[in-house]
Amino acid sequence: MARKKIIAGNWKMNMTPSEAVALIEKLKPLVVTDDADVVFCVPAIDIIPAVEAAKGTNIRIGAENMYFEEKGAFTGEISPAMLVDAGVEYVIIGHSERREYFAETDETVNKKVLKAFEHNLKPIICCGESLTQREQGITIDWIRQQIKIAFLNVTAQQAKTAVIAYEPIWAIGTGKVATTEQAQEVCAAIRACIGELYGADTAEAIRIQYGGSVSASSAPELFAQADIDGGLVGGASLKEDFGKIVNYK
Ligand code: 13P
Repeated sequence: MARKKIIAGNWKMNMTPSEAVALIEKLKPLVVTDDADVVFCVPAIDIIPAVEAAKGTNIRIGAENMYFEEKGAFTGEISPAMLVDAGVEYVIIGHSERREYFAETDETVNKKVLKAFEHNLKPIICCGESLTQREQGITIDWIRQQIKIAFLNVTAQQAKTAVIAYEPIWAIGTGKVATTEQAQEVCAAIRACIGELYGADTAEAIRIQYGGSVSASSAPELFAQADIDGGLVGGASLKEDFGKIVNYK
């Protein structure tokens, strides 16, 4: 069975609650499609108004982060149960900005992934190499390691519902999109790695996105690649362009 595309916006630290509602109202008619799952990953404080604004549409709301404990003395953190109760279906885990600025590691990513699955949240698990790593020729080794740790103790049944976002760090917010060959090569390697861990069925089912300066002009070629099942979109998800990206065909 062909995998359904999944095209997600990552709003990062943009949009106040009232701006969030206005943006969803503007994008609603532009992101209608049967061909892809459409997800808006929004700041925590925007989640409740975003869920309300997206009611009755094909837009699903995701979070940009969550903590790996159930509840308790973790000032400032958001629990998976809070996300579920607010109407969230997806959660980005291990974005490179969280790894860089908030000290997330492959180990905390794994804990968050396991906790997300416990609550039936679908994780969008991020991986990606730095420019130095690419120049050193260790991209595939690095990504395989990130994936293997992220999926420790994850069952095949769970893995099938996961989304992996391959986001080369050097392509994020730089306007320097990876070539389709580079993106396809790594996404194929990720699928092969999942195949080694779980078998062909799971590898065929799991969805792998490309992220990093995706635009209305680069999306069609990227999303046509055999192992690229959509995108995780930063800057362009805040604009009308996101409608063109979702309807890239
Ligand atoms: P840009 O699309 O702005 O490069 O951001 C990509 C990204 O980090 C999505 O998670």
